Amino acid sequence: GFDDGHPLRMIMFGKPGAGKGTLTSRLVQKYDILSLSTGDLLRQHISQKTDVGRQADEIVAHGGLLPDDLMLKVVTSKLDHLNNKHWILDGFPRTLGQGELLDTHLRNQGTPLTLIVNLDVPDEVILSRISDRWVHLPSGRVYNLSYNQPKVDGRDDETGEPLTKRADDNPEIFARRLRQFYVSTSPLLMYYTSQYSSAKTRVVTLSGTTSDEIWPQLEGAVRTFFPRVRERDDVRK
Ligand code: AP5
Repeated sequence: GFDDGHPLRMIMFGKPGAGKGTLTSRLVQKYDILSLSTGDLLRQHISQKTDVGRQADEIVAHGGLLPDDLMLKVVTSKLDHLNNKHWILDGFPRTLGQGELLDTHLRNQGTPLTLIVNLDVPDEVILSRISDRWVHLPSGRVYNLSYNQPKVDGRDDETGEPLTKRADDNPEIFARRLRQFYVSTSPLLMYYTSQYSSAKTRVVTLSGTTSDEIWPQLEGAVRTFFPRVRERDDVRK
């Protein structure tokens, strides 16, 4: 089959606010898959005031991108512990340079990327989502006042801890992040489509304006291409 022996090595690709974090956590909740979000990771570094956090603070708050080599270090220091697990990367790579660095890193480990998912959501839709977004910083759990409300106002469902607004979720900064996506990140999709559409790596575009449209397509793609990925309930049995 398509996944003969290869673990799921998936990139969740899409504009800011496209739903990368939301859909990644849905997959991780249901299936035996781990995930790494560079946005969540950087926000944790920033709140803990680590070296990386000090470098990231200003850049993230203004919707810029951190240097590629720094991002590679941040990512691989976590990724290398996930060896033979199925995993999803959310928010990385987001420049051509990062894409090439990641490819080289994974090739050296003998486990290349196996699935690129491109979330295609219209700009108007994501702009309206951002103003309603609240996050639980320690876990990265995301809520939306009009879409997936917390059970108790302003509180995380699992821990009861307070939710916060992201510093970069105001209209002006968000516009900059969106521009940044078109300039620096979107060329990666061409790179993957041209280099990668081989037997070993799928590139799948999922279009829609709500999760009701996108979630079944996403789940279908994972189940079809990676039948060895188990549901968590099966894993526990
Ligand atoms: P990051 O946190 O990755 O931000 P982003 O890419 O801008 O993505 P978002 O987190 O805004 O959106 P998302 O697609 O995850 O959407 P979500 O699920 O939350 O990065 C932040 C910053 O860190 C960057 O700007 C940069 O400075 C730095 N950085 C990170 N990685 C880097 C890298 N590799 N290199 C350099 N710098 C880097 O959904 C959005 C909202 O919509 C939510 O409220 C949600 O509830 C709602 N929603 C989601 N899905 C649906 C749906 N299907 N229907 C209805 N509502 C939905």
